[in-house]
Amino acid sequence: MKKTILFLSLIAGGMVAAAAAFAEDGQKPPRHIDWPFSGIFGNVDKQAAQRGFQVYKEVCSACHPLTHIAFRNLEDIGFSEAEVKVLASSYQIADGPNDSGDMFQRPGKPSDYFPSPYANDEAGRALHNGALPPDLSLIIKARKNGPDYVYSLLTGFSPPPAGVMLTAGQNYNPYFPGGKLMMPPPLTEGQVTYTDGTPASVDQMTRDVVVFLQWAAEPEMEERKEMGIKALVYLAIFTIFMYLAKRNLWRKLH
Ligand code: HEC
Repeated sequence: MKKTILFLSLIAGGMVAAAAAFAEDGQKPPRHIDWPFSGIFGNVDKQAAQRGFQVYKEVCSACHPLTHIAFRNLEDIGFSEAEVKVLASSYQIADGPNDSGDMFQRPGKPSDYFPSPYANDEAGRALHNGALPPDLSLIIKARKNGPDYVYSLLTGFSPPPAGVMLTAGQNYNPYFPGGKLMMPPPLTEGQVTYTDGTPASVDQMTRDVVVFLQWAAEPEMEERKEMGIKALVYLAIFTIFMYLAKRNLWRKLH
């Protein structure tokens, strides 16, 4: 009995401490969204990922690098080889040195990686009041509840509550640790014109860009889940055989 009480008070204490920690940095827990890619049978919706790429390219890429992704990786989400070629060649890539020792720019090839919008981190910070927009390639895995967090952050800007002071360039967002960040609300209704005709509400663009970033952070997710399912089926069949073998053996022994 005493032990139970001790145990329960420990749990209650833990919850109070967690709530206090949350209140301290004022970060609101992210909204929960049912993502089509979560769960053991979940997979990346290629159409949504392609729309999400369009959002990244037309909006986020102005500030955020995506340097772990090569143009040709986009074939994974259903772009054709020809489309990837055209896309790659629309970028200028730094290369060199050439025979005379100079660096030069050339049109991109499918095997090139997305170039960063900044020459270096300092240049990135200088443009955003000292805050560096992070590379988005791995952001979904780098943050707790990545998909829910990024969704909530992008849709969660609001006017600051009374008493919260913002400095130049700062915006209020309760989902960000501390509530103040240097990113302005990036999406407005109808900001992109989707090539597949889907109406571009803020909710739609945000979901799509999260699907794209989920794929970017974990391109091998589907393969991994498929392996998991195969392993489970294998184990189930193996168990049945072992059971039959055991029954057979014991029948002879009895
Ligand atoms: C005008 C530039 C700009 C645009 C456009 C922009 N961002 Fe940002 N973003 C920033 C800056 C600056 C930060 C860093 C904020 C800080 O640390 O205060 C940031 C931070 C973030 C973060 C990180 C929050 C964290 O936990 O560290 C995410 C995620 C993010 N942006 C996603 C996006 C997505 C997705 C888009 C496109 C829909 C986008 N951003 C468009 C400037 C931008």
